[in-house]
Amino acid sequence: MSHQLAIEHDVIGVGFGPSNLALAIALNECAKRSRLKCTPLFVEKQPHFTWHGGMLLPGSDMQISFLKDLVSLRDPTSPFTFVNYLHKRGRLLDFINCRTFYPSRVEFNDYLQWVASHFKSQAAYGETIVAVEPVTAGQTVTSLRVHSRSLAGGETVRLARNLVVAVGGQPYVPQVFAKATDDRRLLHSSRYLDLIERVVPRGRSVRVAVVGGGQSATEVTVDLHGRCPEAHIDLIFRGHALKPSDSSPFVNEIFNPDYTDFVYAQPAERRDAIVRNFRNTNYAVVDADLLDQLYRLLYQQRVGGDTRVMLRPRSEISNVDAGPDGIEIGVIDKFRGENRRSTYDVVVLATGYDRDTPHGFLEPIRRYIRDAALDRNYRLVTNPAFRPQIHLQGYSESSHGLSDTLLSVIAVRSQEIAESLLSTISRRELIA
Ligand SMILES: Cc1cc2nc3c(=O)[nH]c(=O)nc-3n(C[C@H](O)[C@H](O)[C@H](O)COP(=O)(O)OP(=O)(O)OC[C@H]3O[C@@H](n4cnc5c(N)ncnc54)[C@H](O)[C@@H]3O)c2cc1C
Ligand SMILES: NC(=O)c1ccc[n+]([C@@H]2O[C@H](COP(=O)([O-])OP(=O)(O)OC[C@H]3O[C@@H](n4cnc5c(N)ncnc54)[C@H](OP(=O)(O)O)[C@@H]3O)[C@@H](O)[C@H]2O)c1
Repeated sequence: MSHQLAIEHDVIGVGFGPSNLALAIALNECAKRSRLKCTPLFVEKQPHFTWHGGMLLPGSDMQISFLKDLVSLRDPTSPFTFVNYLHKRGRLLDFINCRTFYPSRVEFNDYLQWVASHFKSQAAYGETIVAVEPVTAGQTVTSLRVHSRSLAGGETVRLARNLVVAVGGQPYVPQVFAKATDDRRLLHSSRYLDLIERVVPRGRSVRVAVVGGGQSATEVTVDLHGRCPEAHIDLIFRGHALKPSDSSPFVNEIFNPDYTDFVYAQPAERRDAIVRNFRNTNYAVVDADLLDQLYRLLYQQRVGGDTRVMLRPRSEISNVDAGPDGIEIGVIDKFRGENRRSTYDVVVLATGYDRDTPHGFLEPIRRYIRDAALDRNYRLVTNPAFRPQIHLQGYSESSHGLSDTLLSVIAVRSQEIAESLLSTISRRELIA
């Protein structure tokens, strides 16, 4: 076990995706402005910075304007804007000529990696945070002991005065697939690019089921059609039709930073109603351009008398059996009163993500957490004798609104959290 207890980090960030990357920038800026010294460290389980690498599909685009990058909404003059990234890469004029607000996901990942390269000294890659324990002086918790495990299995222990958890969602596997989770023929869309070439051998006819009716399911279906000319693909979903995401301008105002204040100020049942009402901006919906692309693809199939891609709407999956000949999926169409069973060589679950709290690694400090709900600054409400601040990013959709799991308010949220964290440092310096 490696101990690094000598240094007490002002902040340890769990995960180094866009949320904590934006925080790294904001902390750096805020600390400079208020002339405070702040030593954050961001611990990331992947060996290097990648933004949803398993879904970096060649044809996929951003679903948000590049102006909603890590900083622009807070400070368009920051060196970490997407526009400055383009300038530094020598592509500003060419990007302008593309006449789009929506860069490819591959390019946005490159932008994020470029930003992350400026914060190398504040990042520890290839380590998973596994436990956070209290460090006590009498009845008071003064700091946190943070345990991480490396890819090779070694453990590191560090001290932190504060914690910011931004670990994203966990791939969601529906209960009906529980028995097959260890089967290598079953994969979640989050690992699609990592595993697909391994499970779909080139040049062999394969039957693939894609489960889900959202953006991931549709992107995977279109990608598979182009990538694996021998694949027969069933897109299995519960709805009557694939539906477009609402990205119209008035509705899009729910993703403005000030809408967070509006949602937060509402009582719980009204917040729930707002989130439910605007669910079709984000969940189980598909970008309209991609729907057109899939529709044209299906139409061309019909012209050629082909049936390689089949949509299976109104399909409730009733049972799943993994056997030597493949994974058998039974579905019920309640509207037609039909049952169908089909066997697949590969099943891709594009069934979205879970965001359950509290996180397992917070279990050792759970007794100090008074309420799972977060305050307006995304901070866990803890007992008075618990001094460290713990902030969560991406885990308060029910209290802060639908922008919480997205990039929409990242530039502003990171500043709010940075200011809250730096207030503890300035208090400490005043006492010292
Ligand atoms: C395929 C895909 C495309 C998307 N496209 C868009 C888009 O175009 N626009 C938009 O607004 N939103 C999009 N989203 C939503 C997405 O949630 C946000 O873009 C963004 O990734 C949120 O950033 P995050 O840092 O909170 O979480 P994540 O990006 O999920 O990052 C979390 C990080 O924490 C790490 N981690 C997890 N557990 C641990 C641990 N125990 N210890 C250490 N590290 C850990 C993970 O490896 C990961 O790097 C997309 C989501 C997906 C799945
Ligand atoms: N290019 C991009 O920018 C891009 C690409 C991919 C994803 N994303 C983003 O990533 C986020 C997640 O999108 P996603 O498509 O992965 O997930 P999602 O929108 O949550 O969709 C999950 C789908 O799985 C289905 N599902 C869930 N449980 C099921 C079950 N038990 N049986 C059958 N179907 C089930 C849901 O169906 P029901 O509706 O019937 O519950 C839904 O259609 C969104 O924010 C999306 O915009 C962005």
